[in-house]
Formats: sequence, C-alpha cells, structure tokens
Amino acid sequence: MSFKVALNFEDGVTRVIECNDGETVLDAAYRAHVKLPMDCSDGVCGTCKGTCKQGKYDLGDEYIDEALTDDEAADGVVLTCQMVPESNVVVSIPAASSLCSSGPQSLTATVETVQSLSETTIELNVTLSEPLQFLPGQYVNLGIPGSDDSRAYSFSSAPGAQKASFLIRNVPNGKMSSYLRDKAAPGDELPLTGPLGSFYLRAVERPVLMLAGGTGLAPILSMLELIAEEGAEKQVFLLYGVTNVDDLVKLEALNAFAEKMSNFSYATVVVNPDSKHEKLGFVTEHMNAVPFAIADADTYLCGPPPMVDAVRQYFKQEATEPASFHYEKFNPSTPKEKAA
Ligand code: FES
Repeated sequence: MSFKVALNFEDGVTRVIECNDGETVLDAAYRAHVKLPMDCSDGVCGTCKGTCKQGKYDLGDEYIDEALTDDEAADGVVLTCQMVPESNVVVSIPAASSLCSSGPQSLTATVETVQSLSETTIELNVTLSEPLQFLPGQYVNLGIPGSDDSRAYSFSSAPGAQKASFLIRNVPNGKMSSYLRDKAAPGDELPLTGPLGSFYLRAVERPVLMLAGGTGLAPILSMLELIAEEGAEKQVFLLYGVTNVDDLVKLEALNAFAEKMSNFSYATVVVNPDSKHEKLGFVTEHMNAVPFAIADADTYLCGPPPMVDAVRQYFKQEATEPASFHYEKFNPSTPKEKAA
C-alpha cells in the first residue's frame, strides 16, 4: 500500500509524491529526488519541520522535545524525518521548492478538443504528456502557442489523469481566447507548468459550501470529481452565479454529480434582471438557499474580484464567518491572484 503526499512549498508550488507503507515523508521525498530541509534525520535538530493539517499520520516516537514540542505536535507541526503517513496527506514545507531541488513540473498539453460552451466560456480538453497529480482546485500555467506568454487556469477535471480539461473565459482580444477561438487545432502542443496554488479542497469533515462565479466553476468541478470519487457524508452545496442565463455551463455535469451523490445539491443565480431565472441578483442575495449553517461550513469561493470582495463583505456584515474560508480571485487577462 502507498499513500500520496502533497508537499506544498512556500512559493506556492505543490509536488505530489508516493510514500510507501511505513516510510517516512523525508525518505519518500528523497526517493522522488525532492530534497527536503534536514540535518540529522534522527528527530533531534528540528530542521525538517513542516505542518500537516490534512490526513492521518504517525508522528513517530524517536524524536526529542527540543525538536518538536507537544504543543507544536497538537498544532499539526511534524518532523518529516519521523512522520509516517497513514492516509493521503498534505504537508506544508516552509521552504521554496527551488531550495529542495524541486519546482513546478513541466509537461506538454496536447489539444484534443476546443468547445465553445457559451459566448463567454470555452472548454479546452487536452492530453498531458504524463498524468499530473495535483490537489483539486489548483492551477497550472498554460503557454500560448506562438508567443512567450502564458495564462493560469484551474483544472476542471480530476487529479492524476492523463486527460485534463479547463474552462476558459472567452475574453475579446484575450491572447489565449483568441488562440482558442481562431487557431487552435487538435494536436497543438501547449507547455504546461504546475501545479500551483493554495486554493484546494481540504478533508471533508464539515458541510462544504461552494461559491462559483463564471469560469470560477472550474476548480469547483475538480473538487466535486474528488468528492464523488472518495465519497463524503457531509452535505455539499454549490451556489453558482453568472451574468446571463446563457452563461450557465456544465449543468449536465452538475446534475450528474447530484444524481451520484445524495449529499450534493446546487442552485444557480443570474445577475441580469431581464432574464426569467428563478434566482436573480448576486450569490450574496441567495445565501438563504444554503441548506446548513454557514458558520459550521468549510467554504470555497472562486470568482472574479468583485464577487470575492462582495462575499467577504457579506460574511463580515452578517457576522457569519464560515468555519474555514478559502477563496481565489481570478482575472481573465492577468495572472491569478490566489489566496486561501
Ligand atoms: Fe533533524 Fe528531522 S532532520 S529532526
């Protein structure tokens, strides 16, 4: 048996490695040619400290208090030279990936299909040069053929597969949009680097509230793929907002998730007051549709900056801070601003 260990470096790069049963994270990383900070490898110096807030693990019993105190251990601090995973885990490493002989992986994404889902959304399906492990919600940088430019996009597909997909906002004059609209053809190769970002699905231990605006649906779909695969008992609810009814995409995928998972439901919200949609306005005007207490929920929000700011303001005004709040702002024509 082996477990996946997602190493989150402080520069936002994530590297997922395989850890064998009974193996320490430090040894597994070494096998994967990732040199984590270390000095003694005996639980004495504390140089290999990281933080693990997700997954089960054995801390080991051969370290000394000076290397790791009980308070630190209770707070999720671990020694990677001692820690033995007992499930898939995510470990934050307080060092840049470049200092660990690592860095974002570089792959090639070969275009399979480009489909216009609506006037505002393009779906890009690719085959990767090799399967890429990432945490659902994370993004990669995709190079634009014929230029030195790249854009950041979150996967809308599940981690670990060789086929991958993205939802891309169709921006007039946008370089990636123009390429996809006017030139892209099956077989085109796009350089891809990643995965990156701290916006990713945590262990589902509380109800999950998902808020998506426009193509901010992409990382939410990736998260739902994993939840559907692994199963979860907690309720999961998505509020998905767009400007016009025609901007609603991937509803068949959302319906399929709802069919497969009795704990998942969703509602859509449309801004345009001229539409005949049932829920008009902004997602903040429809929080009463959430079927559980927001204060008890892990909340994931991905959308354009005004939406993210409006939701943050809403939580502040209503004094209903979620149990945890992870968000990602995207701007279709510039690199992503990530936060969590
Ligand atoms: Fe010294 Fe882990 S490397 S405690």
